[in-house]
Amino acid sequence: MLADAVDVDLAPLRRFWHPVAEASWVADSPVAVTLLGESLVLFRSGGAPRAFSDLCVHRGTRLSLGWVTDDGCLQCPYHGWKYDAEGTCVHIPSQPADSQRIPPRARAIAYGCEERYGLVWVALDDPMRPLPEFPWFDDPEFHTWSKFCGTREAGAARFAENALDLAHLDFVHPGLLGTHGDTIIDPYDVEVDEGSVTMRSSKQSVGSETFAEGHETIYRETSLELPYTFTLKIDGHRGTTVIWGLHHPITSDRCALWRFESRNHSFDVPDQDFIDFLDLLLPQDQTVIESQRPQMIPVDLTEELHIKVADAGAIAYRRLLKEELGVTYV
Ligand code: FES
Repeated sequence: MLADAVDVDLAPLRRFWHPVAEASWVADSPVAVTLLGESLVLFRSGGAPRAFSDLCVHRGTRLSLGWVTDDGCLQCPYHGWKYDAEGTCVHIPSQPADSQRIPPRARAIAYGCEERYGLVWVALDDPMRPLPEFPWFDDPEFHTWSKFCGTREAGAARFAENALDLAHLDFVHPGLLGTHGDTIIDPYDVEVDEGSVTMRSSKQSVGSETFAEGHETIYRETSLELPYTFTLKIDGHRGTTVIWGLHHPITSDRCALWRFESRNHSFDVPDQDFIDFLDLLLPQDQTVIESQRPQMIPVDLTEELHIKVADAGAIAYRRLLKEELGVTYV
């Protein structure tokens, strides 16, 4: 089934903050990005990031083809109309400077835009929740690295839900994650609270370079916050590792990923060792998730099959998506 063969309503997703770019990508020149199918231009005015609809109201030209002027305006490349940081057109070069007659509707559509955690975040409508928090980022006892992991050909929710899925570990990541053959998923706690699903489990896990040594019982707590942000906390005998999964919904069936990882242990191990491990895992997930059809999650629980214990986290997530967003696919 193709993406456009299902009923996709992205409107409720407009009321959340979404990461759309590394802050470092938005420097001196405008940058084009797509969020929930909407073309945006990012630029900086007075050092702060701004997000406008990527369309000049004069003749529909892409503003991202323009440039940022010394006074922090975005200038259209076609006839040079200048838009200030709020999106108001402040100058039309074809008119004399001392008798500018600027139409009241000459405005770029400006969206909520913030810079946090080294990323630029955009909300297309009034956000119903604050920007997601990752307190370990500023915790002096933890060391944090982050990585942009590229784009994927599937909806963001498919990748987010994967974080709640314990049953795939032995099959998709053999020898890297999971338990080397003990595929039984023991009952685990699932808690639903204020727009998030949290599941807690502890199980003897096979060793990996990052999370455990040999066979060790590790404690995992995964919280998936609407719509697509997961926090995975892993306690092993070395210490605590916290993984933050961020998803940029480019369209209903395309997304981009960031991963942050904070740890309070193994400070002598180079970050690159952890990044190399992530680079082994992510393509394994990518292969199976990009094969899923439809590419978005059907929130109606009758659309796919669910196993009572192993899929408890995913069931709670889909119920939450349905109740809070009122969507049929996401
Ligand atoms: Fe932008 Fe004319 S199209 S100034």
